Amino acid sequence: MNILVIESSPHKHGSSNLLAEEFIRGAKERGHQLEIFDAARADLHTCLGCDACGMSGPCVQKDDMAQLREKLLASDMAVFVTPLYYFGMSAQLKTVLDRFYSFNGRLSAKGLKTALIAAAWDSNDWTMRELSSHYQTLCRYLNFRDQGTILGIGCGTVSQTRASRFPKLAYEFGISL
Ligand SMILES: Cc1cc2nc3c(=O)[nH]c(=O)nc-3n(C[C@H](O)[C@H](O)[C@H](O)COP(=O)(O)O)c2cc1C
Repeated sequence: MNILVIESSPHKHGSSNLLAEEFIRGAKERGHQLEIFDAARADLHTCLGCDACGMSGPCVQKDDMAQLREKLLASDMAVFVTPLYYFGMSAQLKTVLDRFYSFNGRLSAKGLKTALIAAAWDSNDWTMRELSSHYQTLCRYLNFRDQGTILGIGCGTVSQTRASRFPKLAYEFGISL
Protein backbone atom coordinates (compact mmCIF):
# COMPACT_ATOMS: atom_id res chain seq x y z
CA MET A 1 0.00 0.00 0.00
CA ASN A 2 0.93 3.62 -0.40
CA ILE A 3 0.58 5.06 3.08
CA LEU A 4 0.60 8.79 3.74
CA VAL A 5 1.50 9.75 7.31
CA ILE A 6 0.27 13.23 8.20
CA GLU A 7 2.20 14.56 11.20
CA SER A 8 1.08 17.69 13.01
CA SER A 9 3.19 18.45 16.07
CA PRO A 10 5.37 21.53 16.51
CA HIS A 11 7.85 19.09 18.11
CA LYS A 12 9.59 17.49 15.15
CA HIS A 13 11.20 14.94 17.46
CA GLY A 14 8.39 14.75 19.96
CA SER A 15 6.14 12.03 21.28
CA SER A 16 3.53 11.70 18.56
CA ASN A 17 6.16 11.63 15.81
CA LEU A 18 8.11 9.02 17.78
CA LEU A 19 5.03 6.78 17.73
CA ALA A 20 4.60 7.51 14.03
CA GLU A 21 8.24 6.54 13.42
CA GLU A 22 7.66 3.17 15.05
CA PHE A 23 4.52 2.64 13.00
CA ILE A 24 6.49 3.53 9.84
CA ARG A 25 9.29 1.14 10.77
CA GLY A 26 6.80 -1.72 11.10
CA ALA A 27 4.88 -0.88 7.93
CA LYS A 28 8.11 -0.58 5.90
CA GLU A 29 9.26 -3.99 7.14
CA ARG A 30 5.97 -5.32 5.84
CA GLY A 31 6.82 -3.87 2.39
CA HIS A 32 4.53 -0.85 2.29
CA GLN A 33 5.52 2.50 0.78
CA LEU A 34 5.46 5.29 3.32
CA GLU A 35 5.50 9.04 2.87
CA ILE A 36 5.40 11.72 5.55
CA PHE A 37 3.62 15.04 5.17
CA ASP A 38 4.48 17.35 8.05
CA ALA A 39 1.53 19.69 8.48
CA ALA A 40 3.32 21.58 11.25
CA ARG A 41 6.02 22.71 8.85
CA ALA A 42 3.97 23.08 5.68
CA ASP A 43 2.53 26.27 4.28
CA LEU A 44 -1.12 25.66 5.16
CA HIS A 45 -3.87 28.16 5.82
CA THR A 46 -7.18 27.71 7.57
CA CYS A 47 -10.31 27.20 5.48
CA LEU A 48 -11.90 30.55 4.59
CA GLY A 49 -15.38 29.06 4.37
CA CYS A 50 -15.85 31.07 1.18
CA ASP A 51 -17.50 28.12 -0.58
CA ALA A 52 -15.87 29.06 -3.89
CA CYS A 53 -14.96 25.37 -4.24
CA GLY A 54 -18.57 24.26 -3.78
CA MET A 55 -17.06 21.28 -1.93
CA SER A 56 -15.64 19.93 -5.22
CA GLY A 57 -13.40 22.34 -6.99
CA PRO A 58 -10.10 24.10 -6.70
CA CYS A 59 -9.48 25.98 -3.48
CA VAL A 60 -8.85 29.70 -3.86
CA GLN A 61 -5.88 29.43 -1.50
CA LYS A 62 -2.53 28.66 -3.11
CA ASP A 63 -0.55 26.74 -0.52
CA ASP A 64 0.73 23.23 0.22
CA MET A 65 -2.79 21.82 0.44
CA ALA A 66 -2.85 21.34 -3.34
CA GLN A 67 0.11 18.98 -3.01
CA LEU A 68 -1.41 17.19 -0.01
CA ARG A 69 -4.72 16.77 -1.83
CA GLU A 70 -3.01 14.96 -4.74
CA LYS A 71 -0.97 12.80 -2.36
CA LEU A 72 -4.08 11.83 -0.40
CA LEU A 73 -6.12 11.00 -3.47
CA ALA A 74 -3.23 8.79 -4.69
CA SER A 75 -2.84 6.99 -1.34
CA ASP A 76 -4.37 3.76 -0.12
CA MET A 77 -4.14 4.76 3.50
CA ALA A 78 -3.69 7.92 5.56
CA VAL A 79 -2.41 8.04 9.13
CA PHE A 80 -3.33 11.09 11.19
CA VAL A 81 -0.69 11.85 13.83
CA THR A 82 -1.31 14.41 16.55
CA PRO A 83 -0.45 15.51 20.06
CA LEU A 84 -3.55 15.85 22.26
CA TYR A 85 -4.36 19.53 22.63
CA TYR A 86 -7.22 20.36 25.00
CA PHE A 87 -8.70 16.92 24.39
CA GLY A 88 -8.71 17.30 20.64
CA MET A 89 -6.31 17.20 17.72
CA SER A 90 -3.70 19.88 17.12
CA ALA A 91 -4.76 22.98 15.20
CA GLN A 92 -2.26 21.97 12.53
CA LEU A 93 -4.12 18.72 11.88
CA LYS A 94 -7.54 20.35 12.13
CA THR A 95 -6.42 22.86 9.50
CA VAL A 96 -5.70 19.96 7.16
CA LEU A 97 -9.06 18.33 7.85
CA ASP A 98 -11.04 21.52 7.30
CA ARG A 99 -9.35 21.88 3.92
CA PHE A 100 -10.80 18.48 2.87
CA TYR A 101 -13.90 20.58 2.16
CA SER A 102 -12.83 21.40 -1.40
CA PHE A 103 -12.58 17.70 -2.33
CA ASN A 104 -15.01 16.24 0.18
CA GLY A 105 -16.90 14.15 -2.39
CA ARG A 106 -13.83 12.70 -4.10
CA LEU A 107 -12.27 11.86 -0.77
CA SER A 108 -15.33 10.11 0.63
CA ALA A 109 -15.84 8.20 -2.64
CA LYS A 110 -12.36 6.71 -2.22
CA GLY A 111 -13.09 4.64 0.90
CA LEU A 112 -9.64 5.56 2.17
CA LYS A 113 -8.08 3.37 4.83
CA THR A 114 -7.09 5.46 7.86
CA ALA A 115 -5.53 5.30 11.31
CA LEU A 116 -5.00 7.67 14.20
CA ILE A 117 -1.83 8.00 16.27
CA ALA A 118 -1.86 10.40 19.23
CA ALA A 119 0.21 11.28 22.29
CA ALA A 120 -1.07 12.87 25.51
CA TRP A 121 0.38 13.83 28.86
CA ASP A 122 -2.45 12.49 31.00
CA SER A 123 -3.24 8.85 31.46
CA ASN A 124 -6.86 8.81 32.58
CA ASP A 125 -9.19 6.36 30.91
CA TRP A 126 -11.10 9.34 29.50
CA THR A 127 -8.06 11.33 28.26
CA MET A 128 -8.50 10.38 24.60
CA ARG A 129 -12.30 10.03 24.60
CA GLU A 130 -13.21 13.16 22.61
CA LEU A 131 -10.34 12.80 20.12
CA SER A 132 -11.28 9.19 19.52
CA SER A 133 -14.95 10.03 19.14
CA HIS A 134 -14.16 12.85 16.70
CA TYR A 135 -12.01 10.50 14.63
CA GLN A 136 -14.70 7.79 14.55
CA THR A 137 -17.28 10.34 13.44
CA LEU A 138 -14.96 11.58 10.69
CA CYS A 139 -14.55 8.00 9.52
CA ARG A 140 -18.29 7.55 9.36
CA TYR A 141 -18.87 10.82 7.51
CA LEU A 142 -15.96 10.56 5.06
CA ASN A 143 -16.35 6.84 4.47
CA PHE A 144 -12.88 6.17 5.88
CA ARG A 145 -12.09 2.56 6.69
CA ASP A 146 -10.47 2.71 10.11
CA GLN A 147 -7.53 0.31 10.45
CA GLY A 148 -6.80 1.10 14.08
CA THR A 149 -5.65 3.68 16.59
CA ILE A 150 -2.62 4.11 18.82
CA LEU A 151 -3.69 6.41 21.65
CA GLY A 152 -0.57 7.06 23.70
CA ILE A 153 -1.65 8.13 27.17
CA GLY A 154 1.05 9.00 29.71
CA CYS A 155 3.21 10.06 26.76
CA GLY A 156 3.90 13.64 27.86
CA THR A 157 7.60 13.67 27.02
CA VAL A 158 9.81 11.72 24.66
CA SER A 159 11.39 9.80 27.54
CA GLN A 160 7.98 8.91 28.99
CA THR A 161 6.85 7.82 25.54
CA ARG A 162 9.94 5.67 24.98
CA ALA A 163 9.38 3.99 28.36
CA SER A 164 5.71 3.33 27.64
CA ARG A 165 4.11 0.38 25.86
CA PHE A 166 3.00 2.55 22.94
CA PRO A 167 6.10 2.50 20.67
CA LYS A 168 5.88 -1.31 20.59
CA LEU A 169 2.15 -1.16 19.91
CA ALA A 170 2.74 1.31 17.08
CA TYR A 171 5.43 -0.89 15.54
CA GLU A 172 3.21 -3.97 15.81
CA PHE A 173 0.33 -2.06 14.25
CA GLY A 174 2.56 -1.10 11.30
CA ILE A 175 3.77 -4.62 10.75
CA SER A 176 0.24 -6.01 11.02
CA LEU A 177 -1.00 -4.15 7.94
C1 LIG B 1 -1.49 23.52 23.85
C2 LIG B 1 -1.35 22.19 24.53
C3 LIG B 1 -2.48 21.53 24.95
C4 LIG B 1 -2.39 20.29 25.56
N1 LIG B 1 -3.52 19.64 25.96
C5 LIG B 1 -3.44 18.43 26.56
C6 LIG B 1 -4.62 17.73 26.98
O1 LIG B 1 -5.74 18.19 26.82
N2 LIG B 1 -4.46 16.54 27.61
C7 LIG B 1 -3.23 15.97 27.81
O2 LIG B 1 -3.16 14.88 28.37
N3 LIG B 1 -2.10 16.59 27.38
C8 LIG B 1 -2.19 17.80 26.76
N4 LIG B 1 -1.04 18.44 26.33
C9 LIG B 1 0.26 17.72 26.43
C10 LIG B 1 0.66 17.06 25.10
O3 LIG B 1 -0.41 16.36 24.51
C11 LIG B 1 1.80 16.07 25.32
O4 LIG B 1 2.90 16.74 25.92
C12 LIG B 1 2.25 15.37 24.08
O5 LIG B 1 3.20 14.40 24.41
C13 LIG B 1 2.86 16.32 23.05
O6 LIG B 1 3.16 15.56 21.89
P1 LIG B 1 4.29 16.02 20.85
O7 LIG B 1 5.61 15.86 21.53
O8 LIG B 1 4.11 15.10 19.71
O9 LIG B 1 4.00 17.44 20.48
C14 LIG B 1 -1.10 19.70 25.75
C15 LIG B 1 0.04 20.38 25.33
C16 LIG B 1 -0.07 21.62 24.73
C17 LIG B 1 1.18 22.34 24.30
